[in-house]
Amino acid sequence: MSTKSRERLNAPILVTGGAGFIGSNFVLEWLGAGNGPVVNLDKLTYAGNPENLASVQESPEYTFVHGDICDAALVKQIIEQHRPRAVVHFAAESHVDRSILGPEAFLRTNIDGTFTLLQAARAFYGTLEGEEKERFRFLHVSTDEVYGTLEPEDPAFHEETPYAPNSPYAASKASSDHLVRAWVHTYGLPAIITNCSNNYGPYQFPEKLIPLMIANAGKGKPLPVYGDGQQVRDWLYVADHCRALMAVLERGRVGETYNVGGGNQRSNLEVVTTLCALLDELAPESPVKPHSQLITYVADRPGHDRRYAIDARKLEGELKWSAQESFETGLRKTVEWYLANAAWVESVTSGAYQNWVKQNYGSRESVAGEGSR
Ligand code: NAD
Ligand code: TYD
Repeated sequence: MSTKSRERLNAPILVTGGAGFIGSNFVLEWLGAGNGPVVNLDKLTYAGNPENLASVQESPEYTFVHGDICDAALVKQIIEQHRPRAVVHFAAESHVDRSILGPEAFLRTNIDGTFTLLQAARAFYGTLEGEEKERFRFLHVSTDEVYGTLEPEDPAFHEETPYAPNSPYAASKASSDHLVRAWVHTYGLPAIITNCSNNYGPYQFPEKLIPLMIANAGKGKPLPVYGDGQQVRDWLYVADHCRALMAVLERGRVGETYNVGGGNQRSNLEVVTTLCALLDELAPESPVKPHSQLITYVADRPGHDRRYAIDARKLEGELKWSAQESFETGLRKTVEWYLANAAWVESVTSGAYQNWVKQNYGSRESVAGEGSR
């Protein structure tokens, strides 16, 4: 084999949004497994934190590029320079409450940004030949929220469930999924879409339910439960999601969609009370105990989806993936990680985070008795 072809077979993957929650878990797992080099393109918004990747920063296998996926010239230059064997596209604005208060950034990054990446990937793919062309993939990481909301007795979302996005976030992700689908069908780009349920685990920004509740509980602050707390989400430990993405990248069929989920449906109130019990055990020095005293019902999120649930049988059957963590083991690991990484929480919740808390929760007066309805 010539040096050139050997180099090409050791080509990196291009990860977008690798400094965020799922992206950084993925990069750490990928490099830890010795899967080859990674180039990480990240804008470092409030949600991106290079410290998540401090342990690999000096690795010759890791390259960080600070930039925006909407910057077509930059994306083209990175792809031409690094000749990735795959693009794994995580970069997004990802928080529903932020999308309600300011949808513009969601349309820009999630739709325009995906379009920019697709165009660059398509141009690059057109220049490939032989084995390099055969194995090139564009993996688009998406969400179950594109399917809308379920009634209590409805079957879980499967890959053929019609799209019915309800929030600006979900609509922007649904749009990006449609773009990816069109680039497969019209231009033959070898892309695959995954739609995953709610993730939790290390490095999740404390604006999302689980890390927000852990962070607040540690400070004796109220635990704000929206509405009646009976909304249901299907929780998946982030490392299980990362393993699913690796299986899809390696063995997934081009042009297909795979739903990813762990079969852990829980109401928000169940999640928060389980967290409180874990914190009672693992953080006995907390200022307010039992932690459940801190649960506070607040005004609901507008347009709040009632229930999500994922049918992951296609992924399990075809690609032999299964979740390794149960909700109980995953949640315990998560609480332990946050307690052991208080400095990380402190550093990401200083500054602009405080403005977000005021903006999102300032207008949500506590609603007495909401939970007993
Ligand atoms: P996150 O908000 O934690 O991280 C997003 C990352 O993207 C950050 O590092 C941010 O700096 C970066 N980014 C944002 N805009 C960018 C831009 N214009 N250019 C370059 N980088 C940019 O998100 P997450 O929770 O890790 O989610 C990652 C992906 O997975 C998203 O596409 C999301 O829709 C999807 N997803 C998330 C969940 C979940 O529960 N968190 C579930 C299913 C799917
Ligand atoms: P979130 O973590 O924002 O994820 P998503 O909206 O993408 O599902 O919220 C998970 C659930 O928790 C959702 O039903 C909204 C609810 N929630 C609260 O009750 N209180 C909060 O402070 C937050 C952030 C979320």
